[in-house]
Amino acid sequence: MDIETIYENQKALITGGLGFIGSNLARKLLDLGAEVTIYDNADPESGANLFNLEGIRHRVKVIEADIQDEARLTEAVQGQKYLFNLAGEMSHIGSMQDPFKDLNVNAVGQLKLLEVCRMTNPGINIVFAGTRQVYGRPTYLPVDEKHLLTPLDNNGVSKRAGEMYHIVYNRVHDMATCVLRMTNTYGPRMRIRDARLTFIGWWFHRLLRGRPIQIFGDGSQIRDFNHVDDVVDALLRCASNALAHGKIYNLGAEPISLLHLAQLLIDVHGSGRYEVVPFPEGRKRIDIGDYYGDYSLIKKEVGWQPHVSLRHGLKTMLEYYYQHKEHYL
Ligand SMILES: NC(=O)c1ccc[n+]([C@@H]2O[C@H](COP(=O)([O-])OP(=O)(O)OC[C@H]3O[C@@H](n4cnc5c(N)ncnc54)[C@H](O)[C@@H]3O)[C@@H](O)[C@H]2O)c1
Repeated sequence: MDIETIYENQKALITGGLGFIGSNLARKLLDLGAEVTIYDNADPESGANLFNLEGIRHRVKVIEADIQDEARLTEAVQGQKYLFNLAGEMSHIGSMQDPFKDLNVNAVGQLKLLEVCRMTNPGINIVFAGTRQVYGRPTYLPVDEKHLLTPLDNNGVSKRAGEMYHIVYNRVHDMATCVLRMTNTYGPRMRIRDARLTFIGWWFHRLLRGRPIQIFGDGSQIRDFNHVDDVVDALLRCASNALAHGKIYNLGAEPISLLHLAQLLIDVHGSGRYEVVPFPEGRKRIDIGDYYGDYSLIKKEVGWQPHVSLRHGLKTMLEYYYQHKEHYL
């Protein structure tokens, strides 16, 4: 399966396409010759940002609507060959503050979308953006797909429902669905305005403002980080590979401690400092501790593995934000 040619002249729908990962995917799909439609409600609490489409706005169709709007979904899904399903509430802390919003987007909305696909376009190829948050606090490392699922926050629970709906629609309705359990993703076009979505976005915010990076806890926590280009590659490989249907795959990368990540970021930036601070109220209880994923299954079955080094990825991300910071800070 050659992803360099398979998307040419094909219709692809991206839910959540105004956001971080979706907008990077839209660019890549356009490069590959696809016809791209974005479905997004431009949620101001999310990473949605019109500037993410800078330079490609005239080449994509944008449907501004909610994932729970069945009439608009029906219009969007018809005639599409691929559906990259990235619309989601991804704030862990937000899911504890507003649990029903999180549930409605990540579970109810996903079920509505799948029902619309089943009724109007059952042959569509779907990849769902799942999350490693469904595992909760790991009992062993690296975490493989067989690890027990004990999410620690509402977001992990709702995302688990969302991924299982996709798997059920494969098993019961023979639909072509696949779930990627993504880990921390970084790169250009992510929300860095505040600490609502990702800590790495918040680190960039502080660095760009000349403030010290804040490490919550003691910095020894281990995580893995995928550059968005690698995540886009995984999405494209899975959508177009029949072997991936009905499967759940971890993404992942080499593990690194937060302290080392902060040091690397400062080194790449050429200046800056970090401070170790206590977890903000509410965060400690939902922190998953150490995590890194075993991605050998997707490597074996789909041929995916990460290629972008952290050093290079952080460098190009910094360059992007220095150039466009007025649109993100
Ligand atoms: N970024 C990460 O590190 C990461 C890690 C694991 C999983 N994920 C998953 O990947 C997906 C994309 O993440 P992202 O980082 O690009 O987030 P993002 O917030 O930048 O993008 C999400 C997009 O979904 C849209 N959206 C939210 N609610 C919607 C609704 N009700 N109807 C229509 N659109 C809606 C938002 O407007 C936004 O543009 C999410 O589902 C997230 O759970 C991301």
